[in-house]
Amino acid sequence: MDCGRRWPRSGRCDVREVDLLDRYPRVRRNIAAREAARPSQREIARRFGREYFDGEREQGYGGYRYDGRWVAIAERMRDFYRLEAGHVILDVGCAKGFLLHDFRQVIPGIRVAGLDLSPYATENAMHDVRPFLAVGSADALPYPDDTFDLVISINTVHNLELLDCVRAIGEMERVGRRFKYLQVDSYRDDEEREKFERWQLTALTHFDPEGWRKLFRQAGYAGDYSWTITG
Ligand SMILES: C[S@@+](CC[C@H](N)C(=O)[O-])C[C@H]1O[C@@H](n2cnc3c(N)ncnc32)[C@H](O)[C@@H]1O
Repeated sequence: MDCGRRWPRSGRCDVREVDLLDRYPRVRRNIAAREAARPSQREIARRFGREYFDGEREQGYGGYRYDGRWVAIAERMRDFYRLEAGHVILDVGCAKGFLLHDFRQVIPGIRVAGLDLSPYATENAMHDVRPFLAVGSADALPYPDDTFDLVISINTVHNLELLDCVRAIGEMERVGRRFKYLQVDSYRDDEEREKFERWQLTALTHFDPEGWRKLFRQAGYAGDYSWTITG
């Protein structure tokens, strides 16, 4: 699809639902196992420290290691947004910088920045991107207006309380001069919501798709978005 003419600040484009994570491997979530351990694990997970990334599966990723799965996503975004050398990308909630690392592999000359709340993740990030990472919160991005060609946030802003979540989405809009891509967790009916609530460890703000769209409007968000539905 041709996105080359979508410049929100000079002739606004539509906010658009598009799944650019469709090449991400889908693994079936073991909801029962996660739920059994949940109450205390949730508290540990929300610290976003070693236990969350590299501890037990019940309290987070159970080992957040590079395996190349983001290469296909970086290629997909490169083609979709026509990214090239010299463009600047920000990943909000970048964790260990895997996606940014892969952007550098698939688009030589691309410039990257990443921000994450977790000192553990950034200290254990991939070596080549570590100099470009900052510790901070998504609701107060330490960058001037209109800095980035593409601002991405995957699986992150739902970890903030409602008002901070709105601010974080607005911040993506503020620092992005061209494209934005936001992914959040969601559910379309009561059954999916129940599964989501049994599975999730860290989310503080969550809605069905219409609820999210309303929040995007409230935040003044004019970028692309997609959901992940717990299945
Ligand atoms: C589910 S992980 C997603 C990591 C990565 N984007 C991915 O998709 O693999 C959520 C990330 O959000 C980060 N995070 C949580 N709250 C945050 C905040 N307020 N500001 C920035 N990052 C935050 C966590 O440290 C963690 O790295």
